[in-house]
Amino acid sequence: MCGIVGYIGSKKAKPILINGLLRLEYRGYDSAGISVIEGTSISTFKNKGRIKNLMDVPGINDLSGKIGIGHTRWATHGKPSSTNSHPHLDNENKISVVHNGIIENYSEIKDFLIKNGYKFLSETDTEVIPNLISYNLKQDKQNDALKLLRAIKKTCDALKGSFAIEVISSILPNNIIVVRKDSPLVIGKGENENYISSDIPAILSFTKDFYLLNDFEYAVLSENDIKFYNSELSPIEKQVKSITWDATAAEKDGFEDFMLKEIYEQPKSIRETIGSRIQKNSNCVIDDLLITKEYLSSVNKIFLVACGTAMHAGLASKPIFEKLCKIPVEVDVASEFRYRDPLLDDKTLCIFISQSGETADTIAALKLAKTHGSKTIAISNVIGSSITREADYSLYTHAGPEIAVASTKAYTSQIILLDIMAIYFSEILNICSSEEINSIKQEILDLPAKLEAVLKNTDKIKTFAKNVYKEKDIFFLGRGTDYAVALEGSLKLKEISYIHSEAYSAGELKHGPIALIENGVTVISIITNPVTAPKIASNIEEVITRGAKTFVITNQNLENSNFDELISIPNINPLISPILSVIPMQLFAYYISKEKGLDVDKPRNLAKSVTVE
Ligand code: F6R
Repeated sequence: MCGIVGYIGSKKAKPILINGLLRLEYRGYDSAGISVIEGTSISTFKNKGRIKNLMDVPGINDLSGKIGIGHTRWATHGKPSSTNSHPHLDNENKISVVHNGIIENYSEIKDFLIKNGYKFLSETDTEVIPNLISYNLKQDKQNDALKLLRAIKKTCDALKGSFAIEVISSILPNNIIVVRKDSPLVIGKGENENYISSDIPAILSFTKDFYLLNDFEYAVLSENDIKFYNSELSPIEKQVKSITWDATAAEKDGFEDFMLKEIYEQPKSIRETIGSRIQKNSNCVIDDLLITKEYLSSVNKIFLVACGTAMHAGLASKPIFEKLCKIPVEVDVASEFRYRDPLLDDKTLCIFISQSGETADTIAALKLAKTHGSKTIAISNVIGSSITREADYSLYTHAGPEIAVASTKAYTSQIILLDIMAIYFSEILNICSSEEINSIKQEILDLPAKLEAVLKNTDKIKTFAKNVYKEKDIFFLGRGTDYAVALEGSLKLKEISYIHSEAYSAGELKHGPIALIENGVTVISIITNPVTAPKIASNIEEVITRGAKTFVITNQNLENSNFDELISIPNINPLISPILSVIPMQLFAYYISKEKGLDVDKPRNLAKSVTVE
């Protein structure tokens, strides 16, 4: 939530900051702003709305300074407005700050500063930061090059909450100072220039060399140099990390939207996630995961913990863990897990799933599990993300950058990686027949081709979306792993089409929800399990009798049923079917959003990475 960028070098900062903000817009898009050092003073431009509104602010194109910071906002404290947008300055306009995160004790600090004569213009928590830096500067009687850094450190020591902060100041006009705690920030190293960003893809077209800051580490950037300091301001060395992602992977590549591109990338992303982890006729290999038979035999519960779509990936994978490893699995929403006092000890294995690796609740849940002695594994798509630095083991999905706010390819890659982990554990435990394991492995290897087949056949989904895009309520039904997909289909629809929808386990229908079914209501069902197929087919007949329009996605032989529309998908083991059956759900949500003329990639009120509680 909120994106921050920075540039220091020999080129004009403004176009580079705008370019970075456009790429970070998915993190928040209710207002934006930049500050650039022009000579010895700071020039700041802000506007409400998207980055394009900022680009229209009179005078912004005259900026010629080579050092600047920028911000795209997802409002927490204070409504979206030009005044509330970042950067925020101190009362003397000497210190400009952009901030991603939340300052929990801002009102206390604000009261203190007001008592000391400071005035506030905005309703934000952030505005206390430049003013507290200013206050701390005035208290420091030493006059040396580290004076501003000391004032920033003293300020950060007083802040409670989360922050990634960039500071420029007319009193140190050749530097940018940055620091982070629980919010993402990366530094890109160029030739005679350096960059700052909330994430790597935003500045990947400028550099592939990055430094990652840990909590309470400070960096002082100049054109030719970056100095790093620890929380006590002692100088430290940091290793540069080179990223192999291709910058064009973060472009639209001819697709109308990132979401559509990412849906169509799934055969490739699934191949990348499988990589060499599964091979025919040999055991699974998961590099960097050192799990012994002795340890696994002692595990009496696995927790899969995540938020939103990543949590749905956990739900879709629970059955394969239980079937192949014979260990009970609980799937938890991270924001509940962290406060519900879960039963944790060294016999519970906790797996945390997060595309961004920056989700505040998931990180906090992981930290909690560690304090109880549980082993922790993080699954993330972003190398070096915060969660991967906290976990005992980190596994990457390798799905490539996911830019659209609604997650698609990250979800399927998370499931496939969890499925592979279940097989890997099962092989270590040696509790399933090799025939059973080999047949699932073969199905996993066959998946990319099946995904390609589903993606070639989208006409019926498009037509159905055209027929129902004006609906107010849509219901999703499934059983077992199909229910997990129903939940994800319903979430995708809500997110990008703003249609109210609910997902139900089909067997629950008669216990209440069927009261909502009346003439013309749309019910979408997923059926991939031959055992429960006749049961759910009967449940669908029950809604047809009550006037529902029905749309069914299945690989079962149900051609002669009374459904309004049936989409056939290839045959697949129900344990791994969500990776395939979710594709029509993703496309359905996408086409409805397009029919309604909405912004598919940047749905209202949402942000790609939820770094606040
Ligand atoms: C929905 C979506 C969200 C995320 C959730 C967790 O399309 O993207 O529900 O899945 O915010 O995000 P990560 O996986 O980054 O922890």
